[in-house]
This record gives sequence, structure tokens and C-alpha cells, in this order.
Amino acid sequence: MRVTIQQLRDWKRQGQRFAMLTAYEYSIAKLLDEAGIPVLLVGDSMGSVVLGYENTLPVTLDDIIRHAAAVVRGSKHALVIADMPFMTYQPSVEDAMRNAGRLLQESGAQAVKLEGGVTVAPTVRRLVDAGVPVMGHIGLTPQSVHQMGYKVQGKTVQVATQLLADAAALEQAGAFSVVLEGVPAALAQRITAAVSIPTIGIGAGPHCDAQVQVIHDILGLFTDFVPKHAKRYAELGAAIQLAVRQYADEVVAGAFPTEKESFTMDERVLKELDAEPSPAAAGVGRPALSEAEGVREPGAAPEPEFSGYSPKS
Ligand code: KIV
Repeated sequence: MRVTIQQLRDWKRQGQRFAMLTAYEYSIAKLLDEAGIPVLLVGDSMGSVVLGYENTLPVTLDDIIRHAAAVVRGSKHALVIADMPFMTYQPSVEDAMRNAGRLLQESGAQAVKLEGGVTVAPTVRRLVDAGVPVMGHIGLTPQSVHQMGYKVQGKTVQVATQLLADAAALEQAGAFSVVLEGVPAALAQRITAAVSIPTIGIGAGPHCDAQVQVIHDILGLFTDFVPKHAKRYAELGAAIQLAVRQYADEVVAGAFPTEKESFTMDERVLKELDAEPSPAAAGVGRPALSEAEGVREPGAAPEPEFSGYSPKS
């Protein structure tokens, strides 16, 4: 049974904080789900940390669908939320409806997230009325990078007032929660007190109802820079480099693989093979295609020992 949007609202009412993390693929989603993370976001931050783009703008709907489907397959308990990429909801309500529908239907995610406040509220209303749970996202909104840069938002009375209005408009429109990104802690505290839906902070201080972080940031997997709002809970980047250097050294030294990682063969078959004339002597240029390229012949007996990447079969 997965966490529901109603549960998030209950947690706010009960004063129970919760953690949300981004996830983009099966194996990590499985680890996070098993660790009890209740909400997984397939964020368009994948543009930077997975796909290597400069910002989130090039991420496509198909990117999110493919990765969200993997996260859904990897998780059993977490609520999975899929980000709506740049220009999949801004042009018209019809675009938003069609694309949100594709996200839920084709990936199996249970909710969508989109950026903006008052201006996107009518779109949020239509989506919610159509049965699509929507998480809002205000403050520093990365899809508007070319207008606002990556700057903290809400330091003036005018912008702070706007953000309070944005949060209220999202709540009114039926959003089940709202991300506050890059907002001063004192303002996030006021927004959190003003709305009945959970606020989920990233770079928004400790007073939000929940927190979200990009998984690559907290595990030390994204090494281009460390955002101020992120804390490193592990240095997996360094651990990966140590491990792969050791692997490469062992390959070069002939220390890997050993017998333990190798497959055996029946001694009688070996003897028979050794008694055969060599392929060169027999005039055979090279082994049959099926062996040389690993293509199994139809009807060939299954190889019993190899358990490479088919743990489920
Ligand atoms: O894309 C993303 O990961 C996000 C979070 C940072 C909230 O929008």
C-alpha cells in the first residue's frame, strides 16, 4: 500500500514532518523505498544530475515518463510524483491535461508537480477536477532560470507578498502540497502557517512541514558543485572512484576474476575438446556465430550458472 496524498495532509495536521527525495531510476528508488522514504519525486533536476544538461529546460515528457516508470517499478510504499517538464503545461490548460494524463497513465506515478503560483492556479484546478493530484512549486523555480537566475526569492515585501498569494492560490485550486524552493526561512515559516496543505522546503529553512533534497546532492554523487541548501550524508562519489580504481587495478594485475567469479566445465567434455583437431588444422576459420557473439541457438539448453542481470528469471 502506497502513501497517499491524504496521508500527507494528515501528517501536517498532526505536526508530523516527513522527508521527500528525488529518484530517477529503479535501483535507487528501491533502496529509498526500503529505507522508508515516503515520497519520491522524479524531478526535472534529472536534467542536471542524470543527463548532464546545464539546466532543467531540455528535459522532455518522455524523459520523465521513462524514469518515473522505473521509479514506480522500484518502489512499493512511496508516493511517486512526476515533474511536468518545461512547456508541457505552460502553453495551455489542454496541453497540461494531455501531458499530465500521459505522465500518470504511462509511468504509473500517482501525482504531478508543476512550477508557478497564481498564474498556474486555473490549470491546477482543471487537473485536480480531472482527478490528477498536483503538487505546486514556488519561490525559486528552475524552469524560469532565464528570468530569475538561481536566486533566493521573497526577500522584498513585494515578492514575499506575491509568494504568500501564490501558496494561497495553489491551496484554493486544490493542490495537495507545495514545494518552497530558495525562500528565506522566516517567510517559509509564514507560508507554512498560512496554508493547510503541507509545505515542502528545499533551501527554505527548518519550519516547513517537510523537506526535499536531490538524492545526488545528499549522497555526494553530483560533484560539479554543492548547493548551499544541501548537506552531504555520504560521499558515494569518492566511494565509487575508490571501488572502480581497485577493480581496474585488479584487472590489470590479473587478480580479477578468480575461480570464484568463473564458470567450470565438465572434465570429460574438456578432454574430448582437447582431443579434437584444432579449428585451424580442420580448416575452420572461426567459431560459429552463435558462440562467438553469444547468440543462443534456438532450443539450446539454458545456461544454468550465469545469473548476470536476470535475477528475476
Ligand atoms: O526537479 C526537482 O528535483 C525539484 C526539487 C528540487 C523540488 O523540483
